[in-house]
Amino acid sequence: MRIFVTGGAGYIGSHTLVQLLGAGHDLCVLDNFSNSSLEALRRVRQLTNRDFALVEADIRDTATLTEAMSGFAPDAVVHFAGLKAVGESGEKPLLYYDNNVTGSANLLAAMDTAGCRRIVFSSSATVYGEAQYLPFDEDHPIAPTNPYGRTKAMVEEMIRDWTAATDGASAALLRYFNPVGAHESGRIGEDPRDIPNNLMPFIAQVAVGRRAKLSVFGDDYETRDGTGERDYIHVVDLAAAHSAALEYCARTEGCEAINVGTGRGITVMEMVAAYEEACGHAIAAEIAPRRPGDVASSYAATAKAARLLNWHAERGVDAMCESSWRWQSTNSEGYGEKA
Ligand code: NAD
Ligand code: UFG
Repeated sequence: MRIFVTGGAGYIGSHTLVQLLGAGHDLCVLDNFSNSSLEALRRVRQLTNRDFALVEADIRDTATLTEAMSGFAPDAVVHFAGLKAVGESGEKPLLYYDNNVTGSANLLAAMDTAGCRRIVFSSSATVYGEAQYLPFDEDHPIAPTNPYGRTKAMVEEMIRDWTAATDGASAALLRYFNPVGAHESGRIGEDPRDIPNNLMPFIAQVAVGRRAKLSVFGDDYETRDGTGERDYIHVVDLAAAHSAALEYCARTEGCEAINVGTGRGITVMEMVAAYEEACGHAIAAEIAPRRPGDVASSYAATAKAARLLNWHAERGVDAMCESSWRWQSTNSEGYGEKA
C-alpha cells in the first residue's frame, strides 16, 4: 500500500513507520517537527534499512499539503499530526482547535482532491471523560473534560460525516489508551521536550537521574493500592494495531471507533515497582495531592478490536518498562544527544 503519514516523526508515528516499512508499504511522511526531530526519522531509516518520502510542512498549509498528497497518490492516510498536552489545551484552546480540528479538515479536503478514501485517525480514550462504567467500551457516552479531548471528539465526528458523504470511504478512529515503552532496539522512543506530564516518561527520567523524584498524584483513590489505575499499551503493539486498521479499511466501508488497549489496569505504584525491576534500582517517589481532572481508573474493553481488527496487545508491563529503560538509559537526553 501507499500510505501518507501525518505526524510520522513523533513518538507513536516513528514506531508505526518501523512497522509499516517492515511490512513493505511505501510511505510519505508529512510533519512540521513542532514536537519531534529529524533524528527520529534518520533512526527509522537505519532500523528498517528502507527509505520514504518526507515533506516538512504543516497540515494547516493547504497548498503544500494538497500538492504533497496529490503527488504521492496514497491508498490510505494515517493521521497522527496533532497537539496533545491536556494542560496546554486549557491555556491555548484556539491553538488546539486550529491545529487539530482545522488541520484535520484540511487533510480530508486534500484527500478528496487526491481521491484517497481511507483514513486511520489517532483518537484518544480521553473522549470518554468520566467513567460511567468500566471497562470503557466504544458505546460509552462521549464527554471529554478538556479542550484537547474535545478536539479529538470533534475530529471523530468530522471524519464520520466525511465517510458518510464519500462513496467507498472507510475510516478507523483508534482510541488509544496510555501508550508507553519503546522499540526493542532502544534506538527510538518517547522524547518529551519539557518536563514530562505523563507517568512513564517521568519515571524514566527519575530512573536515569535527570529528575530527583516522582510525585505520585494521590494515594486515596478507590483502587487496589489507592493510586491511579490506567490501561498502558506498549507502543509496538499500538503500531501493529495501525497495520491491522489499514487492512480493515481496505476491506470495508464506513466509519468505526475502536479502542486500543490491553483491557488491564496498572496502578502508579505497580508501574513504579515494575520499572525498578527493569532498571535495577529504586525509584524515588513521594505521595503528592491528586492532580485536578484525574480519574481513579481507566481501562479498555478490547472485544471490538479483536473482532474487527483481529488484533490484541501482546506485550506486558515488563516489556513496557524494559524497552523504555533501554531507550532512556542509552539516550539520556533523548534525540538531543546524537548517538
Ligand atoms: P507526538 O507529539 O510525539 O507526535 C505528533 C507529531 O505530529 C509530531 O511529530 C509533531 O511535530 C506533528 N505535528 C503536530 N502538529 C502538526 C501540524 N499542524 N502539522 C504537521 N505536523 C504536526 O505525539 P504522539 O504521542 O506520537 O501522538 C500522536 C497522536 O496520537 C496525536 O494525535 C495524539 O493526540 C494522539 N494520542 C496520543 C496519546 C499519547 O498518550 N501519546 C494518547 C492518545 C492519543
Ligand atoms: N501520575 C503521577 N505522577 C506523574 C504523572 C502521572 O502520579 O508525574 C499518575 C496520574 O495521576 C495517573 C497516572 O499516573 O493516575 C497516569 O497519568 P498520565 O498523565 O501518564 O496519563 P493520563 O491517563 O492522565 O492521560 C493520558 C494522556 C492523555 C490521554 C489519556 C488517554 O496524557 O493525553 O492518557 O487515556 F488523553
